[in-house]
Amino acid sequence: MAAEVAFDYTNLTEVEGGVTEAELSQLGPRLEEAANVLLREPPGFMRLPKTSDLSSRSKALAEEINASGAADFVHVGIGGSALGPIALHRALDHPLHNLLADRPGPRIHFAENTDPATLRAILEVANLSNTWVNVVTKSGSTAETMANFLVLRGALIDAVGEEAYGKRVVFTTDPEEGYLVQIAEREGIRRLPIPPDVGGRFSVLTPVGLLPAAVTGLDVGTLLRGAGQCVDEVTREGAEHPILVGAAYYYLMEVERGRNVRVMMPYADALERLAAWFVQLWAESLGKEGKGSTPHGAVGTTDQHSQVQLYMEGPQDKVIELIEVENHPRDLRIPKAYEDLEGVGYLGGHTLAGLLNVECDATRKALTEAGRPNATIKLAAVDEEHLGYLMQALEVQTAVAGTLYGVNAFDQPGVEAGKQITYSRMGRPGY
Ligand code: PA5
Repeated sequence: MAAEVAFDYTNLTEVEGGVTEAELSQLGPRLEEAANVLLREPPGFMRLPKTSDLSSRSKALAEEINASGAADFVHVGIGGSALGPIALHRALDHPLHNLLADRPGPRIHFAENTDPATLRAILEVANLSNTWVNVVTKSGSTAETMANFLVLRGALIDAVGEEAYGKRVVFTTDPEEGYLVQIAEREGIRRLPIPPDVGGRFSVLTPVGLLPAAVTGLDVGTLLRGAGQCVDEVTREGAEHPILVGAAYYYLMEVERGRNVRVMMPYADALERLAAWFVQLWAESLGKEGKGSTPHGAVGTTDQHSQVQLYMEGPQDKVIELIEVENHPRDLRIPKAYEDLEGVGYLGGHTLAGLLNVECDATRKALTEAGRPNATIKLAAVDEEHLGYLMQALEVQTAVAGTLYGVNAFDQPGVEAGKQITYSRMGRPGY
């Protein structure tokens, strides 16, 4: 089976004021060059789908965690060290995973922010004598992650003692550098590597995303296979691949049309956190040197009753990207009832997934008729293979957009200043 992911940009050209074929072909040589840059010296994230030792190490450790009968698994990390794993969990695990009696693996919790309300709540529900903690930080020094780790470490030591605590902790971090490497050596804690040439927001297919996915029973081999299909297609088709063509469209919409808001609106609750993951990917990769466009996440149909009014009649500054799922993983038929009441009875006999997709199509048509540029990503299914493909594709698009903008998509100098001030205010020596 191959992932079936289609990209439809028709309504970016056919609406009034849309991008013209002439503009696209004028950008052609630069898009070709961006494709060459990507393929000549592929960035680290491009080789991840074919790097099998990372997935086998993640799977082996997940098997050990699950075989130990773990009750809870706490994933500690922030930014690129959390958003990808959360997106996978929300997309692919049972929507109420932690409440399932026969769930595969332990309950999973994500400690991202330093808001004590969240970590305290995790500590209140976790069975600490049977909890695994996975500390994920590439740099090994992010204040939020280290603070949460220190709190969890204290709680675990209280629950199981100094000796046993280290056996229930995993560090997912740079293989050579950072404080976690030193702590791991001091306390005999196991480590999984994040390849040095893969940045946080491009790291979902390293152990950052693979370990938690395997722990909750997801098929990481299939996830990587979907991503590998994307890499193979991009390698074969270069600038012709629709995901690269999309980079050109979003770039032109922003620099030529002033549409500096890119809304990603999946019509599936399961993909809500995929949009949140993409928001970070696009924002942190491209927002520099006064350039970039503002990504925004929404979810259909919910946000039809919240934001679509703005998309339809507000400022002409947006491009809306719908994500439509052909075969939803779960469905329900709406029973026939109240057939004498015309405003209710018509729903009976349809399915909820059918209604969701009709509403997606209705939004697309309404936006188009109102002259609001929109694109659609069509996924045949929400499963490991399609998620792997889509996440890899969006990473490719972001990297290519970076070349079109002329910025380095792989750094984030703008977040340093706040970090330095925090370190100094919290008393870190040397700051
Ligand atoms: O994409 C990025 O590089 C960032 O969002 C990082 O993932 C984030 O700052 C967390 O960094 P670290 O993994 O070093 O704790």
